[in-house]
Amino acid sequence: MEPQKKKFISYVVLIVAIVALLTVALWNGLVVKSYVLSSKKLTDPVRLLILSDLHSSMNGKNQSLLLAKIRELKPDLVFLVGDVVDDKRPQEGALQLLEAIAPEYPCFYVTGNHEFWSGRADNIKNTIRSYGIEVLEGNCETVTVGGQRIQVCGVDDPDGFEQENFFGQEISPEWDEQFERCKKQLNTDTFSILLSHRPERVSYYDGSGFDLVVSGHAHGGQIRVPWLLNGLYAPNQGFLPKYAGGVYDLGSSTMIVSRGLAKSFIPRIFNPPEIVLVSVEPRE
Ligand SMILES: [Fe+2]
Repeated sequence: MEPQKKKFISYVVLIVAIVALLTVALWNGLVVKSYVLSSKKLTDPVRLLILSDLHSSMNGKNQSLLLAKIRELKPDLVFLVGDVVDDKRPQEGALQLLEAIAPEYPCFYVTGNHEFWSGRADNIKNTIRSYGIEVLEGNCETVTVGGQRIQVCGVDDPDGFEQENFFGQEISPEWDEQFERCKKQLNTDTFSILLSHRPERVSYYDGSGFDLVVSGHAHGGQIRVPWLLNGLYAPNQGFLPKYAGGVYDLGSSTMIVSRGLAKSFIPRIFNPPEIVLVSVEPRE
């Protein structure tokens, strides 16, 4: 082959490879991330659906794509773990979703930082409550799924209460109080779940007695590299965040961090928006 022709083919192959890589890296279609856990406290399997960090973004007309996926997964319970409503974007997209799912599934909601940043957190909570969704703010509810009881607890985002102490460190005593109130309500014979937007507060969750902790906030660390990097940067964790997304064994408890559904001008790389499905199976 002539050297000119060889060079031309090499360039074409390189360009095709780069375009293919960018297409895969920047693909932003909705994915379902599934995890399977087990518990001695359950007698029947339970399907838990986690939606986090929607930031009021749309998925099809009137959220049709998101709703279709949720219905396909047939969850027993739906958990909305904060930043579902954004502080800058119009809230209609988020409210459309919540209004649609509320009559179909038992739904539980906790705030994220963006609901507080909007300055309308109380208003948002009241609207969500009006759909029949359980808004958790330092309390627990017990639900029955297939004849067995499950305890769902939840705390607000600490940004609702954050203040600085004498040394300039950020503290949120009211968040601590909410967390302690949830712990006090724990029934250790019942499978228990804590909804808390913040994964970096893992030191609180570790050994707390909750069987499962569900968080979001980290957006998967925004940029991922398959098999090499589970997130480049996450708020409140910084670079190379440990709790960017996935499942984390906390000894007596498990934490699942959703990479969330947010779509914004900041690209998500190898990190498509995700719905999380947790199947918890009974164990002997
Ligand atoms: Fe957040």
